[in-house]
Amino acid sequence: KLQKLIGNDISIDIFESLPSTNDYLKDEAPLSKPRVCIAEHQTSGRGRMGRSWTSPFGRIIYCSYSQMFMKDISEMAGLGLVVGILTAKALEDMDSRLKPQLKWPNDIYLEGKKAGGILIDLLAEANGYCKAVMGIGLNVNMKGCPLKGVEKWTSLEDVVGQKLDRNVVLAEIIRFLSQGLETFLKHGLEPFLPDWRRLDFLNNNKVSLSSGQKVYTGIAKGINPQGHLCLELPQGLK
Ligand code: BTN
Repeated sequence: KLQKLIGNDISIDIFESLPSTNDYLKDEAPLSKPRVCIAEHQTSGRGRMGRSWTSPFGRIIYCSYSQMFMKDISEMAGLGLVVGILTAKALEDMDSRLKPQLKWPNDIYLEGKKAGGILIDLLAEANGYCKAVMGIGLNVNMKGCPLKGVEKWTSLEDVVGQKLDRNVVLAEIIRFLSQGLETFLKHGLEPFLPDWRRLDFLNNNKVSLSSGQKVYTGIAKGINPQGHLCLELPQGLK
């Protein structure tokens, strides 16, 4: 059903269970077209910063999208933000009751609670190419399903009050990714900055940010063109 919804320009591998959809695509040979891997369940789902990602069966979207970019790894810094923006735009487009926001750098929020996250794995390849594996975990039909160890979270079902077809949600996200990543390839993060400003969850809120050993506390003031979070500190902007 999903292949029918997204057409043949993207190859899809579907599994009932995998250790991690990101790890699967990291190990697979790149194709000339984008490659998507989805699973109903992950046994070693990974989150950011080495954390694990709890992966109950059939309720969450576990999806990884991989593509080769003719870019140096240093030019890929904004990719995680772009994937978040495109996922949020897909949700907005799909159902006007969904009003996603993005918590820098990679969390998808709905009604002030985490509904999903993005994990990017980058691999430098020969000849100036770089392979990006973009992992998306999105809580879809999670009503009444507790997530151990995760405090404030929500799901699409909790927000719209009905179960959603994960194939339809995925097809919409994949459609936005395949179009939007072409824009990122040509123009980088810049064309996405207005969307970030609109979707920014932290803007004008007090946040603490650790960088190395130091912790900075200030007021979040959006991102700069490189995708770094701007903090207004007592002694000025950082
Ligand atoms: C985070 O919020 O820390 C990011 C979570 C990313 C989870 C997704 S689920 C699909 C893909 N495979 C993984 O092992 N992780 C990502």
